[in-house]
This record gives sequence, structure tokens and C-alpha cells, in this order.
Amino acid sequence: MARARTIDARVPITHVMAFHEYNVDLAAIVAADLGLPFHDVETVRSVRDKHRMRQLLDAADSPRWAVATDEESLRRAVVSTGLPCIVKPRDGSGSDGVGLLGSLHDAGRLSHPLLVEQLLRGREVSVEAFSEGGVHKVVGVTAKHQFAGSLVEEGHMFPLLLDPVDHEAVGEVVRRTLSTLGVSSGPSHTEVFLTGSEPVVVETHLRAGGDRIPEMVQDVTGTSLVDLWIRQCLGERILDEVPEVSPGTDHHPTYSATWYRGANATAILAGVGDLRSVVAQHRAAGLDVRSLELRVSVGDVVRVPTRSGDRLLVGRACAASPDAAREAARALVAAVPVELVTSELAPSVTSHGSRTAASEEPSV
Ligand SMILES: Nc1ncnc2c1ncn2[C@@H]1O[C@H](COP(=O)(O)OP(=O)(O)OP(=O)(O)O)[C@@H](O)[C@H]1O
Ligand SMILES: [Mg+2]
Repeated sequence: MARARTIDARVPITHVMAFHEYNVDLAAIVAADLGLPFHDVETVRSVRDKHRMRQLLDAADSPRWAVATDEESLRRAVVSTGLPCIVKPRDGSGSDGVGLLGSLHDAGRLSHPLLVEQLLRGREVSVEAFSEGGVHKVVGVTAKHQFAGSLVEEGHMFPLLLDPVDHEAVGEVVRRTLSTLGVSSGPSHTEVFLTGSEPVVVETHLRAGGDRIPEMVQDVTGTSLVDLWIRQCLGERILDEVPEVSPGTDHHPTYSATWYRGANATAILAGVGDLRSVVAQHRAAGLDVRSLELRVSVGDVVRVPTRSGDRLLVGRACAASPDAAREAARALVAAVPVELVTSELAPSVTSHGSRTAASEEPSV
């Protein structure tokens, strides 16, 4: 804060922006101190702190939950959540430290405090929305796919055109969540379970989705959410330009999918084929490939993904149907030759690896 004041005294700071969630709390404090528009400090806290968020949301919009500070309180928590349940850190991201607790026999290995939640069942989706002046517009719903037996995202597909009744219910719960948490501007990314009765919120974020979701929205709508975000931060009113992709919209000529590849075992990445030639081959075969990227470096230790940062490769492709888009992106990353050397030198890690925010992209 002192540094921000020093800079402000020399060259007046006129706008505050933060595009990564790790900086949003700091940006909110600086903005409040300098009297500039930004999210309220309290709103940022309510969104970042999953316990606080659960306290504020309507009970109907959350799973049953409790906080455990030790083994004894964990035993009490599972009485209300049931088993299996989900355990997670209060302020985690990238699925780091989020796990399924199947039995209290495993309780001793957990580090506290923990948020303990009822295991939601059903289909999980994510929702991009944009707010201005406290009005929330739903951009669209994204299908989310996880690696088998894991909570880490393997892929995404936009737009997911839900049944219109479900789409409306999802939009309602997202708008209610954003209003309850005091979100008045900017993009948000909310994870929601379609539980069969009412949609239930996993969490929300004061940013656009990670995992190339803004690029997928742009593939489909032609609009950059990030450009709108910057313009809004600079004081423009942009809500009218925010696209809305809903099941009622006439037709969606393009669907966009992002797909990740992970390692099957802990190993050292010894080599990777030429990504440009993989892209060229797929384009020559008629696929609408948008991007293909390596997310780690040759020489790195790679492992079965237990957090977003563990994933090796990501590809994005568009097609005329949801399945064709998913298949194109999946085939793209699968086609990359990867040489993995399983070695005793490659240390094995547990699912609760250390958190290294700096090396990770914004998580979904
Ligand atoms: N109560 C729950 N019931 C079922 N699944 C859940 C629950 N809470 C979390 N999950 C699953 O775990 C994933 C990660 O949980 P959460 O989003 O709370 O953690 P995170 O660390 O913020 O993850 P990320 O940053 O990857 O979104 C969710 O997307 C969802 O698939
Ligand atoms: Mg999440």
C-alpha cells in the first residue's frame, strides 16, 4: 500500500485492474485506499474464502457443509455432510488439496482447517457471466470434463446448450450468488452442479474462466471477454456488448473445445514431438485447430494430474457439433509424440503436493 501511495504521489494512479485471482485482494486494498473503483475488499474476501462464501450463500444454493479444525470436528462434520464427502482448503485453487474422503479411517492424514462438503452428484458445468452496475449477464454455460477418477479438468466445451429450464435455473443461481457476494462489475466464472433438483454452487471467481475458456467464448461469439474487461476497468459501459449464448439463440455454427493431456505415471519428460507439425497435419486433415501448447518443459518431472498445474499439453479446436469439437481437441493432444522416462529419479508425490501459484495459470 505504501508503494502504491508513493507511485500515486508521483504519477497519479487512475485505474486499478487485476486479471489473476492471486492479485485481486491486493488490488482491492489499493483501490479502496486510493478511492478508485474496484471490487469491494469484503466482496473479494467472500469470494476467495470458501468458508465465508458458504456462510453468505443461501443454504439451498450450497451443499451441506461444515468446517473441521481437527479430527474430532471432522467426525462431527461428516455427521451432517455424510460420507463420502469432499474436503478442501478454505482458499485453494487449481483443485490443489481438494479430495474425496471415503471413510474416517483416512481422516488422520488430513491437514486442518478444512471445509467439509456434502458430495454433490450430477453434472458439473461452469458459467461465464459479466456484471456491470450490479446487473449480471450470463455469457453462456461450458461443459466440464475431468480426468477419470480425478477432480482435475481434462477438457471443456463451449457452448453447452442445456435444456432451457435448466439454463434459466443455472442463470438464476449464478445471478443470486453474485448479488449475495456483492459482485457489481467484471467477468465471473462460477462452477455449478446440476443436481437433478436445483443447481448448487461449488464456487465462483472474480475473473473470466481459466483453461482457455475466454478464447473458446471468442471462437464462438467473436467477442473477447478480456477486451471488454479492460474497457470496463477503464470506465466504459460494455454490458450491451456482452454476448449471451443460450439454448434459445437460433443457431451456433461453431462449438469450441479445449482438451488437456496428463501423464499416466510419475516420470521425467524426456522429449516432445514438433507441435507445429502436429497442428499442420490436423489442419491438412480438415480440422479447425486453434492452438496447441506444451505446459511443462523437457526435463520436468510429470505426474498423474492431481492439480491443474500437473497437465502436460493443451489443445483447442472448433467444429460444427459439441462432440466433434471435443473429439478434435482430444485427438490433437493425443497425437503429440511424448517421451516419458519412468525413473527412480522421478520423485513420487502425493495428491497434496505443494502449492506453487507462480507456475500455474489461473485455474478454472
Ligand atoms: N461439494 C462438492 N461435491 C462434488 N464435487 C465437488 C464439491 N466441491 C468440489 N468438487 C469438485 O472438485 C473440484 C474442485 O473444487 P473447487 O472448485 O472447490 O476447488 P479449487 O481448488 O478452487 O479448484 P479449481 O481452481 O480447479 O476450480 C470442483 O470443480 C468439483 O469437480
Ligand atoms: Mg473450482
